[in-house]
Amino acid sequence: MVELIKTGVPGLDQVLKGGLRRNASILVTGAPGTGKTILALQFIYYGAKEHNENGIFISTEESLDVLDQSARNLGMDLKSMVDKRKIFFVQKPIATLKGGISSIKGLVEAIRKNNVRRVALDSLIFFEYLYPRFDGNKMEFRRQVLMFIQEMKKAGVTFLVVSERSITDFDRLNYDMMDFVFEGIILLSRIRKGSYFERVLTVAKIRGQDHSLDVYPVTIGSDGLKVLVDQTPFSLVEKEEHGFK
Ligand SMILES: Nc1ncnc2c1ncn2[C@@H]1O[C@H](COP(=O)(O)OP(=O)(O)OP(=O)(O)O)[C@@H](O)[C@H]1O
Ligand SMILES: [Mg+2]
Repeated sequence: MVELIKTGVPGLDQVLKGGLRRNASILVTGAPGTGKTILALQFIYYGAKEHNENGIFISTEESLDVLDQSARNLGMDLKSMVDKRKIFFVQKPIATLKGGISSIKGLVEAIRKNNVRRVALDSLIFFEYLYPRFDGNKMEFRRQVLMFIQEMKKAGVTFLVVSERSITDFDRLNYDMMDFVFEGIILLSRIRKGSYFERVLTVAKIRGQDHSLDVYPVTIGSDGLKVLVDQTPFSLVEKEEHGFK
């Protein structure tokens, strides 16, 4: 039996028909401001708070203070979980890491020592800092990311990675080399509906697991990011209707 774990994102577990496979490596990708960081944060926060799975959040951009402030506005008390040593926050480890696979030894040790079950990396840019000498060498970059994923797998954690991508239209999606490295891909986007944009989510793939292929509306509010599993995005309904004319 495959063990599925809860994502911490209301509605997403239903899209995934139960949750994420324990120990899987998942890429969350989308345009700026689509909710990638919030999704990763909820995965770590609710994993620790509601499912007793300690987490590590690695941030290449935001400090704990900044992230804690926005988490607070989304109904999460991140700092209290950090104080309880249920969540470990790592900011810009790039400054202290020198490159090569040995760099993640500290991380693997921290996972073992603190009984960590979930790791989120925000974002994949981390590897560009970590391995600058491979700049432009895509195969080497891919190899390093793969090695990192393997290490996370060996360490027994469920691993979620954020990456930036300019998706505006799910119909015209350019696949990235990185998509083949991860076992699962969750896409976030905004679709224009007249004078406003609607947030949407779709699961592009999860190896070895059944999941919905539909596109769902997403909302972000004072209780965080939610997937509206019972609804079809307005913007898409309109598109279909136009198509029939
Ligand atoms: N408390 C809140 N209430 C409503 N919407 C919010 C709230 N906090 C954040 N948002 C929305 O979430 C968006 C940011 O989400 P998030 O930081 O997860 O995006 P991202 O995909 O990580 O962006 P980037 O690629 O720039 O890092 C904001 O642009 C804002 O629209
Ligand atoms: Mg972000």
